[in-house]
Amino acid sequence: MIKLVNVWFKYVGGREWVLKDVNLEFRRGEVVVLRGPNASGKTTLMKVASLIYKPSKGSVVVNDDMDVWSRGGDYLVKYRRMVTYVSEKPVMFKGTVYDNIAYGLTLRNYSLSEVERRVYEVSRKLGIEHMLDKDVKVLSAGEKQVVSLARALVLTPAIMFLDEPLTNVDEDRRKTVINALKEFKSLGSGLVIATHLYEGLDEINPDKVVILKNGVVVKIT
Ligand SMILES: Nc1ncnc2c1ncn2[C@@H]1O[C@H](COP(=O)(O)OP(=O)(O)O)[C@@H](O)[C@H]1O
Ligand SMILES: [Mg+2]
Repeated sequence: MIKLVNVWFKYVGGREWVLKDVNLEFRRGEVVVLRGPNASGKTTLMKVASLIYKPSKGSVVVNDDMDVWSRGGDYLVKYRRMVTYVSEKPVMFKGTVYDNIAYGLTLRNYSLSEVERRVYEVSRKLGIEHMLDKDVKVLSAGEKQVVSLARALVLTPAIMFLDEPLTNVDEDRRKTVINALKEFKSLGSGLVIATHLYEGLDEINPDKVVILKNGVVVKIT
């Protein structure tokens, strides 16, 4: 569980508060949709919640422990492994789709056969099995988005933050992706999905919808 407590955030050199006194909780097994117009602070909020950005004020508490940032060091590293942020514009590593999905597992010292098993499993769920040997250079934006999802899902993080995950994904593939996300939830992981649209997300059936405006949480339903 990740809890933002009285979180304020301002970018270095920025004049305005981008997040203003945000209090939110994200749990395993829960799907949260984070909605709000462009520039309302969705991406910033998710980066704070996934321990990429340190809040300017307030705290980020994981598993009812103390503030991660005051503990720092090993705790930060440990907790960062539990959460994953998937960017709207993913950066791919050089190589094939397989290499990209396998990368995190290899870093975590899984055996080759286990890496292979997991990469195939997640690719099958997302319908990208046939692409595994492709060089990522030739992928479309939508394909890259799905590969970056695979790269995150394969590590089975406790909570995953997806930034506008369906923007470039075409109709045909949306359903497959949504089903894979539902399965991920049913396995007990948490999902937070930021979107400025609502398109396609009805099917996800979120447990909670958080509306952000101008850096303020204006509604939780
Ligand atoms: N790296 C940055 N430096 C300065 N300001 C930023 C940076 N990233 C975002 N902002 C500003 O923070 C506000 C919120 O942006 P963002 O979190 O990206 O919103 P959203 O994801 O809802 O579109 C915007 O006004 C944006 O211009
Ligand atoms: Mg954004």
